[in-house]
Amino acid sequence: MISTEVRTGEGSYSVLIGSELLSSVGEQIKERLSPARCAIISDTNVASHFADPIQKSLHATGFEPTLITIQAGEQSKTLEQVGAICEKMLLAGLDRQSFVIGLGGGVIGDLSGFVAAIFERGIPHVQIPTTLLAMVDSSIGGKTGVNTFAGKNLLGAFHQPSMVVDDIYVLKTLPRRFLRQGFAEVIKHAVIADAKMFQELKNETGSDARSLETLVQRNVEIKSNIVAKDELDRTGERALLNFGHTIGHAIERAGNYEKILHGEAVSLGIIAACAISAKKAGLPQAEIAAVADLLQRFGLPIRLPEDFPHQRILDALAFDKKFERGEIRFVVTPKIGSANLSRDVTMDDIREAVAQL
Ligand SMILES: NC(=O)c1ccc[n+]([C@@H]2O[C@H](COP(=O)([O-])OP(=O)(O)OC[C@H]3O[C@@H](n4cnc5c(N)ncnc54)[C@H](O)[C@@H]3O)[C@@H](O)[C@H]2O)c1
Ligand SMILES: [Zn+2]
Repeated sequence: MISTEVRTGEGSYSVLIGSELLSSVGEQIKERLSPARCAIISDTNVASHFADPIQKSLHATGFEPTLITIQAGEQSKTLEQVGAICEKMLLAGLDRQSFVIGLGGGVIGDLSGFVAAIFERGIPHVQIPTTLLAMVDSSIGGKTGVNTFAGKNLLGAFHQPSMVVDDIYVLKTLPRRFLRQGFAEVIKHAVIADAKMFQELKNETGSDARSLETLVQRNVEIKSNIVAKDELDRTGERALLNFGHTIGHAIERAGNYEKILHGEAVSLGIIAACAISAKKAGLPQAEIAAVADLLQRFGLPIRLPEDFPHQRILDALAFDKKFERGEIRFVVTPKIGSANLSRDVTMDDIREAVAQL
């Protein structure tokens, strides 16, 4: 088992990475949190696979877990759901001494983290991510929240986890399309911060547990190092993590969050951001080709489906608040392994890049 310490403004938390960690998770938690009531928040796909060993381990170590299972999917990430979960926790007798375990992908991580942030004005949050995307991205950094009709992730709170347990074994049941999404974020991290990892990804198969453990550790470090410089997303440093996401989010929105998964939209957004980087930051053509090759190697799209309405992407971009004030802050990469915010990118540059997708 690998243990990585992530520093935050208030202290630090451990990220444990290994295989088959769930049956001893109670002991790991006991080293950090005193025995108490806790809620395991999970979804209908994940709970049936993994809730049992966790509950057993918690009981055996003196905790009193209550399992709360919600419908799987992004449509569950709402304020109503947060309210319903909190009511269940109160009925089960949870109080200020209790804590929350989020067992699932990014949806459960964001939702359970928000519950932990507001329940009795804030209780500890333990993350047990079960998708690659959640391990390398959403479980790190303390952003929690829910969606609204007006847009995604518009309500939330910063609430750093107390610990994160990444059990690579759980990825065995994850459908391949969801596994691939995680690699979009991994490739994003490589492009913005780690040229060496970019090269190594050319040999990554995504199926060897040892190699995945090292990969997850590396990505936890990349994300947490960037977050540490700008925990509350104010100075622009954390915004570098949005590489590929400005256009990616617009593509997701244009597909009504159904046709194209987040990671697939990010893959397309990375291609567009690379085209813009060539024009505005001097990214060499050979490096653009290398990025496209790597994305394709992991089964990620580099072109939109034939019949996809390009105009809807531009409409969705216009909807994005960042664009309304006239100033566009766009993340570009001058060279694989580095990134910066540019103020030179115009709406025309973006239109041109989207047209090429
Ligand atoms: N907080 C952050 O910093 C941050 C960063 C990136 C993304 N996010 C959020 O993360 C969410 C996306 O996360 P996601 O891609 O993990 O989606 P998800 O949580 O919806 O999981 C994807 C699907 O896989 C299923 N699943 C999860 N683990 C499984 C397993 N081990 N075996 C079988 N099925 C499994 C889920 O039930 C779901 O159907 C979005 O809501 C996004 O906004 C947050
Ligand atoms: Zn993302």
